[in-house]
Amino acid sequence: MMLLFVMGIVPALVAETVVVQSYESRALSQREIRVRNQCDILIDQLLKKDYLAHPDDEVINGEFDMLAGIYGGRILIINSESRVIKDTFNLDTGKYSLSREVIDCLRGKETSLYNEENQYLEMTMRIRRREAESSSLEGVLLISVSTSEIAASKVILEQRGSTILLVILLLVLVLGFWWSGMVVQPLQKISEEIEGISEGFQDEEISVPDYLETELITDSFNRMMTRVRAIDDSRDEFVSNVSHELKTPLASMKVLADALNMNPDAPVEQYREFMTDISEEIDRENSIITDLLSLVKMDRRAADLNIEEVRINDLLDRIIRRLRPIGDRQNVELILDSFRPVTAEIDSTKLTLAFSNIIENAIKYNKPEGGWVRVSLNADRKYFYVTIADSGIGIPEDSVDHVFERFYRVDKSHSREIGGTGLGLAITKSAILMHRGAIRVSSKLGEGTTFSIRIPLAYVA
Ligand SMILES: Nc1ncnc2c1ncn2[C@@H]1O[C@H](COP(=O)(O)OP(=O)(O)O)[C@@H](O)[C@H]1O
Ligand SMILES: [Mg+2]
Repeated sequence: MMLLFVMGIVPALVAETVVVQSYESRALSQREIRVRNQCDILIDQLLKKDYLAHPDDEVINGEFDMLAGIYGGRILIINSESRVIKDTFNLDTGKYSLSREVIDCLRGKETSLYNEENQYLEMTMRIRRREAESSSLEGVLLISVSTSEIAASKVILEQRGSTILLVILLLVLVLGFWWSGMVVQPLQKISEEIEGISEGFQDEEISVPDYLETELITDSFNRMMTRVRAIDDSRDEFVSNVSHELKTPLASMKVLADALNMNPDAPVEQYREFMTDISEEIDRENSIITDLLSLVKMDRRAADLNIEEVRINDLLDRIIRRLRPIGDRQNVELILDSFRPVTAEIDSTKLTLAFSNIIENAIKYNKPEGGWVRVSLNADRKYFYVTIADSGIGIPEDSVDHVFERFYRVDKSHSREIGGTGLGLAITKSAILMHRGAIRVSSKLGEGTTFSIRIPLAYVA
């Protein structure tokens, strides 16, 4: 509003000043030219009649009076001895005029002087014979003309300017209010509606279709809200999944403990069996909580990564050596194919967890006898590639897309006896995405599964 005001007023003010001033200087210079022309004619005449020697020439004096009358001014003729020989006011005739302008003019420099305060223009002109070779200076004509009507016009012009300025000011004010109404109002509506949503009164979309711009703003706000709601929903789902998963072992323990309590005469063998089961359920609860904690850690920002130069060959070798006893127990052979030495900038703790999860799965979901797991490592100039292939039970086609989801297990009952929380691959995927990598899975039911991972060699924050 203030800006609009300044933008309207300042140019108008400048324009007014410029117009008034240029009028004044133009009017003055026109007046000067006209007066000089007429004086030139007069000087010609008085030289012809040798007026300086005969200052009582009726005709010339008449012309002086007329010219002075027309311009409301005064004419003085001063001879080369600085003596005034004619004054249309008859005040200084016979006296010596030693004013600065007259002296300057006698020396050859014609002057013109504008006195703004007293509203007159004073000019000096040389009286000399042009045809003569030496063009000797015979005297000075000093004329002062009134400029009061120029000043009057200037005042009128200034007054008009002020009126126009006032009109502009009013227009700017009115336009400003109108504009703020048109522009600010829809924005206010938007902010009110958003406030409504954030205070929980309003749950739908907002809509302020007053302008294309406001529509764009509300549209993108609505899109953002849809995403926020989706995140909200998935969080709710996650919480209910977690509660369910945590309650399952508790429920089993409760059943086992109740059964023992109801039967005080139960044999020691039954006690032992049930207690072993309870212990297993506690382990399960424990592993779910451990996995949940890892998952939460992975969900944090990439800033939490502990990046260092790591030899990936060694990292995979360590994982396989640690998992080999488990593989041996299930008669699954673990093979590592390193095609070249690879060093990369990674968080070794997080990637160890990620690779371990996949290799553990490959062992777990393998054939009962004589299965294998083949881990291979390769690299190009930008990425390193790890593939983990197994000869296991495979994943059904309609489940392949879901294995990375939290708590997803292909066969709940089957997986249960093998053990697992359904969080392993979700953790793996988060860890790989944090490294700006990618993971893919391909599988054929009954034949085996291959996980392919690609991770940049250099970490970019
Ligand atoms: N190598 C594999 N072969 C067959 N199925 C697999 C393999 N890896 C994962 N799966 C399936 O994906 C599910 C999710 O895996 P994961 O997130 O690690 O959970 P879990 O704790 O059950 O291992 C598993 O329950 C299993 O059904
Ligand atoms: Mg697993």
